[in-house]
Amino acid sequence: MKPTSTLALHGGPPAVSASRPVHHRWGAAELARLTAMVDQPSLFYWNGPQCGALLAEFRKTYPLQWAMPCSSGSAALHIAVAALQLPPGSEIITSPVTDMGSVIGILYQQLVPVFADIDPHTYNLDPADVRRRITPKTKALMIVHLAGQASDMDGLMAVAREHNLLVIEDCAQSWGATYRGKAVGLFGDLACYSFNEFKHVSCGDGGIVGTNHPRYGPTLTKWGDKHYDRVTGNRNPEALSPNYRMSEPQGAVAAAQLVKLPAIIATHVRLGTLMLNRLRELAPPGVVRPAIDPRDTHSFWFCLLRLEAARFRCTREEFVAALKAEGAAAQAGYIPKPVYGYPLFQNHNFFGGGWPLRDAGLTTMDYRNVHCPVTEAMLADGVSLAISPAMTDEVATQTAEAVAKVARHFAV
Ligand SMILES: Cc1ncc(COP(=O)(O)O)c(C=O)c1O
Repeated sequence: MKPTSTLALHGGPPAVSASRPVHHRWGAAELARLTAMVDQPSLFYWNGPQCGALLAEFRKTYPLQWAMPCSSGSAALHIAVAALQLPPGSEIITSPVTDMGSVIGILYQQLVPVFADIDPHTYNLDPADVRRRITPKTKALMIVHLAGQASDMDGLMAVAREHNLLVIEDCAQSWGATYRGKAVGLFGDLACYSFNEFKHVSCGDGGIVGTNHPRYGPTLTKWGDKHYDRVTGNRNPEALSPNYRMSEPQGAVAAAQLVKLPAIIATHVRLGTLMLNRLRELAPPGVVRPAIDPRDTHSFWFCLLRLEAARFRCTREEFVAALKAEGAAAQAGYIPKPVYGYPLFQNHNFFGGGWPLRDAGLTTMDYRNVHCPVTEAMLADGVSLAISPAMTDEVATQTAEAVAKVARHFAV
């Protein structure tokens, strides 16, 4: 790569010249399970062999005694929150850099999501800011492991212990990630994963919620299944629960996907590491790589860089447009704004155009006054690079070279 080469945007040769081979995420293994499934007398999840196989595979990586395959990651998180049975108005602290799926269940359970700021280099919850946001109503933390990187579990679990908080881990983006050698999801009280289209492993849509906690474990399936008790056959609901069951076709595909999980994760780790190592060698000015502790495994669902705005004579959007022209799979930031900035939150438009919880005096939360400065800065200057088994090592390396080429071109 020549440092002075002309941008592809200006007619130069694109930095990412290697082709991306056609990648099939689903194949013979998924088909074999689906084919076996059609001979089953039932496609119902309860005791279904496909969902059973899914649980067996899942437990090889995540030894959680109780687990429920469910319809999505959002469903898994809602089940986890509901299982805590917190009084209305209780607060759950979480990250403002996440998917809506993290907060939907909190709001539906008449609880209050409280947003704490993130670390500027890992983009995960900053334990010190979490501590600052604790009130007498704080009952739990929902820890989001963003982009494939484990959160600071020593710091966050210490805060949880000090303040007697329950912990839900949102591992939707972090299949395969470890913290100090231990898989994410095995630190808190409940763990949630997603099989949606865009995750490391997918069955189109699906999720799983699990726990080793004897208080919550036996209740999980009730919270995800209309509060029916499928073990005793007792149809006598004593609480309100949605139907979030997974069905056997989803279970079949997800089970086959989990067999491949170690290989898929190894590919993501290799590609992400190659990309970041090449970036470190090239050391483009003003480009900040994520901080990754060498003791942990970042499973690179994607790779998020930051740009030091003052070092470029272009906007982040112009930078990304140039990067895309180079052939890199890049996008500006991750979500357009912090979750609390969405109109839904700014207008407190949760139920029937309002927020009955606040009308009833059970919270004074006003999301118009919430600010997380590190989050706001990161979402304004971040650049995401896609990582997937559809890339080759060469594409990963050339993507880093594209970043360096664009950074040098626009450097002040
Ligand atoms: C961090 C996080 N949490 C929760 C979810 C929700 O998962 P699902 O789309 O399966 O409902 C997602 C999905 O994008 C996510 O990225």
